[in-house]
Order: sequence, then structure tokens, then C-alpha cells
Amino acid sequence: MNYKDDFPMLNTGIIYFDNGATTFKPNVVIDSMDEYYKEYSANAHRGDYDISLKVDVAYEKVRDKVKEFINAKRREEIIYTKGATEALNMIVEGFFANILEPGDEVLITNSEHASNILPWYKLAKNKGIDVNFIPLDETFHITLANVKKSITDKTKVISIAEITNVVGDARDIKEITEYAHSKGVFVVVDGAQSVAHKKTDVQATDIDFLAFSAHKMCGPTGIGILYGKKELLEELDPLYTGGGMNESFDSISEVYYKDLPLRLEAGTQNIAGIIGLGSAIDYLNSIGMDNIYYTEQQLSRYLIEQLSKIKHIDIINMEPDSGIVSFNVDGVFAQDVAVYLNKYNICVRAGNHCAKVLKNSIGVKNTVRVSLYFYNTKSEIDKLVELLSDRDKIMKEMI
Ligand code: ALA
Repeated sequence: MNYKDDFPMLNTGIIYFDNGATTFKPNVVIDSMDEYYKEYSANAHRGDYDISLKVDVAYEKVRDKVKEFINAKRREEIIYTKGATEALNMIVEGFFANILEPGDEVLITNSEHASNILPWYKLAKNKGIDVNFIPLDETFHITLANVKKSITDKTKVISIAEITNVVGDARDIKEITEYAHSKGVFVVVDGAQSVAHKKTDVQATDIDFLAFSAHKMCGPTGIGILYGKKELLEELDPLYTGGGMNESFDSISEVYYKDLPLRLEAGTQNIAGIIGLGSAIDYLNSIGMDNIYYTEQQLSRYLIEQLSKIKHIDIINMEPDSGIVSFNVDGVFAQDVAVYLNKYNICVRAGNHCAKVLKNSIGVKNTVRVSLYFYNTKSEIDKLVELLSDRDKIMKEMI
């Protein structure tokens, strides 16, 4: 399928393999945001005039779309944030900081990216909790056996990505949550790399919290979602207070906040972003999440097949479940490979990809990462493989 009519960026001559960092935006997303700015540019929940009421409707309609998209039970469980990072910080600082005690344990893995590690490290420093790692198997996957072995009496939370951003493994969240809950352990899911790529169902998996960003799912930057079960969000302290989230504040002792979801949405939100997110969801639904995941898996399999034929390429994750493939070229620094490919208008990411403790598992600090999306093609992969197959050319052009 050709998506060139849908995405302006697909007509720039660039081959874009950095979808884990952010994705391209289709016209429908750009147009809907443009329309907001040009035709009904007002604030939400504040005005009694037509264009403001139109914003109110759009703002809340997108909440319903997100609810459907991740199959949440209630619309109040959907909170607008700046992105997955802000959502994860709200979960840790607003909820877990209030219930965890010194010595309590949070389990993560060493393939998490910064936003699902640093908030926990901060809590460890400030509250004396422990952050420990569920070991990965030789293909960098979590097994239920390892989850079972890792949980102790002290474990209170498992916080993991559904799909990780360097080795592209997809975790069986339902199975992990079922076991975690049987031990009284909360489950937080970082959906930054998964919500855009495969069907998310928070009721089927029964997770407690989920965080994700719109810009990694064809939507705009600066908008994301915090999902939490209603009874847990009720207990989440707002990190921000201000306009839009209060009912009244006649004196210090008479401050009343609104109910969910507005209680956790202080100040003017990214309204254009919210409208863009709604269009992104419509667009992804029109392609179908199962179709998207299947296409990416086919593409990553093809890429691995082709790269495997090249002797000087060392593939880090031979068995990704998603569209993420990391590798190195023998004797060439990962960043140099990225710069070389850039000369041919190919965008890949090189470095540690914000997953700085993963080196303990994969044995190397830096890799070249190709992160695919449904709009990538086999012929783009062929071009990449052709350029990587000539090591002398890479070396020569790097001098
Ligand atoms: N975590 C994002 C990535 O993997 C930024 O590129």
C-alpha cells in the first residue's frame, strides 16, 4: 500500500526509519489542527460563546475516542498530558510517592527507556524505595518465570514498556498483570512504543496505569495520555493546580477540586494537539491496528533476513516482535553509520536511544536502530541494505 498521498513527509525524498523517535503526520492531522487555529480558536471549558462551545465538544469527543482506542471502561480514566514522560512522572510522583514506604520494591527491566527509569530512581533517592530489574532471556524477552522469580514480599509495582525501544520485544502484559495482581503488585505500562503499533486493551490486560504520546502515533507533539483505573486516579494527587481543575477556593481551608478527569488537567491544555490526536486515532483506525502490526512485523522480518546476509553486520535483536531492529557495522561507530546513511537521505537513530542500562544485557553501548512503521516499504529497506552491504564504501566515506 502506498501512503504518499496521506503524508507530506513521504514526498520529500527522505527514507525515514526513526519512527521510534517520532512518526510522520498525515494531512488529516495537520488539517484538523489548522482548522482549529483558523476557524474556532478558543479555549475549552471557559466560554459561553459558540466557538468556545465547539472547542468543548471537540475536546471531550477526543477523550471518548481515546477511551475507545485503548478500550478503557470510563471516559474519566483518560487524562490529557504533555506526553508519556509527563504521564509517567504523574503516576510516580502523584500516586506511588504517597503509598510506597522505604524498602518497598519497584521492578523494571534494563530495556526500559529513561522516562520509565528516572522517575523511579528519583523516588528511590527521595523515599528509600528499591528499584530492581526483572532479568531478560537471551533474546531480550521477559518470561513469566523470570517475573515470578523476581517478585518478593517487598515488590509493590512492576513498571514496564509493552514494547521496548531498542530490542523491540513485545511483552505479554495480560499474563504478567494476572500474576502481579495475584501477589498484590500494581502494573504500570509504558505504551510509548506500543500504542501506535498494536491493539491496546486496558480492560483485557487489566493494567493499573498506562502512559503514551501522540507524536509516536501520527499525532502532534506535546500531547499524550495518562490512563489509570478510576479508583486509582481518584487517589492521584494533582502535580499541578490552577485554572480549570478547581471548583472553588474561597480560602486556604476551602479549596475544592473538580472531579476526574479535569482535576488532573490544570491550566489550558494543548487544544490543537488534542484535536490532532483525535484525527490521528481516526486515521490509525482506518488502517486497522492489526494490519499495522502485521505490516511492521513483515517488514522487520524482511530487514533481518537481508541484513543477516551481510557478514560485517551484527544484529543485536534477531527476534523482535515489532518493527524495531538494532545492529552495528563491524569496526564502524554507530553514529558514523547514521551520518553515512544521512548522506543518502536515510534517517536512522544511533546511540543508546535513552535506554542507558540496556548495555548490561546487549553488551554494547551504542547501536544503529531502524524503527519501522506501516508506511515504510521493502524497496526502502533494499536501499538501506544496499548502502550497508559495502563496508569499504562506508569506511571511505567516513574519512
Ligand atoms: N524513546 C524515544 C526513542 O526511542 C525517544 O527514540
